Amino acid sequence: MSLLITNIKELLQVRESNVTIVKGSDMKILPTLKNAYVLIEHDTIVEYGSMDNFPDYDVEETIDATGKIVLPAWCDSHTHIVYAGDRSQEFVDRINGLSYEEIANRGGGILNSAQTLQNTSEDELYGESLKRLNDVIKLGTGAIEIKSGYGLTVEAELKMLRVIKRLTKQSNIKVKGTLLGAHAVPKEFKGNTSAFVDVVVNELIPAVNKEHLADYIDVFCEKGYFSLEDTERVLKAGVEHGLVPKIHVNQFNAFGGVALGVKYEALSVDHLEELTDEDVEALKNSDTMPVALPSCSYFLSIPYTPARKIIDAGLPLALATDYNPGSTPSGNMNFVVSTACIKMKMTPEEAINAATINGAYAMGISNQYGSVCRGKKANLIITKEIASYYNLPYAFGDNLIDKVIINGQIVP
Ligand code: NIG
Ligand code: FE
Repeated sequence: MSLLITNIKELLQVRESNVTIVKGSDMKILPTLKNAYVLIEHDTIVEYGSMDNFPDYDVEETIDATGKIVLPAWCDSHTHIVYAGDRSQEFVDRINGLSYEEIANRGGGILNSAQTLQNTSEDELYGESLKRLNDVIKLGTGAIEIKSGYGLTVEAELKMLRVIKRLTKQSNIKVKGTLLGAHAVPKEFKGNTSAFVDVVVNELIPAVNKEHLADYIDVFCEKGYFSLEDTERVLKAGVEHGLVPKIHVNQFNAFGGVALGVKYEALSVDHLEELTDEDVEALKNSDTMPVALPSCSYFLSIPYTPARKIIDAGLPLALATDYNPGSTPSGNMNFVVSTACIKMKMTPEEAINAATINGAYAMGISNQYGSVCRGKKANLIITKEIASYYNLPYAFGDNLIDKVIINGQIVP
């Protein structure tokens, strides 16, 4: 199967060499090619160039992209799209004055989702999750990370991870799975967090390892959830079982979780709405990607991750959705990119780098995804006719996507 896209108004994120991460002031640079073409064979980008030197290729299908912009599909490195039901009642409770914390303390929040999930069959859970996955693909997502964490028992966590595995096999897009066993302390373990961590470390992690159900290990390192000590125990056990850390940290409180993540060579540290100078220092000279989740800040009305502080310190930054029923019931990466520009003062170039190549890095797949590069996977977005790529963040809430191509195939 060969597919040619011609007359592209502007082709974004074109990399002659296979760059796998973009940091600091380099994030302001988004290499582009105007009046371009891209040639795809099977699932791979094999050639691109200017229409001025266009060789006459003999291909099976051609898309004329006159007036349109082409860019790599979004790489969403942090989601919880496998969940059951929703938490719209808590949304209304918050409008009426309760805080996220107060709802959680009353047994709502993650515990509420866990109860629903425990009472949902694997097949039902798969069906709900597949629908969400297909919806976000239509919004331009071409690679995604999905976490467990709404099980809170060994059995229910394994159910979630088996669903993630089925999605990995069933879906055309790249899926990475994360064990978030330590997401909240279940009611039965209230006041005895370390006993629950024992279960995660001694039962859950080995069981997940036995079935090869996850790539990454995650912990919600936060006051009221898991302390530094708890987090360290989980990360250590995860690493011993071949899982790479990717952690939730600094959403509400900064108390050293970032440095702990760096110590365990975390691939990413995510949230960072609260960020100290010490956290920034810890990230320097590390290979850990900071990840911001602006839709979560928007939905919960909490501070935005200080992108300028991170990027201006020479660090990289990735953007992801955090799609989940409690803090971010949206998997729209277009909204994330817009919100990063509007609320976090990222330039369009920085935001697009953060949502493509750096997002791919935060999933360990940036050698294959996240840029237009010969030999990389043909996962692309073709926009509608737009004046410039600035319109992607500018026209927030608009759907400017005309077509999505995944593995060289147009998404129906
Ligand atoms: O990333 N912060 C922890 N976990 C999720 C939300 C969990 C929930 O409320 O269901 C997050 O925001
Ligand atoms: Fe999350």
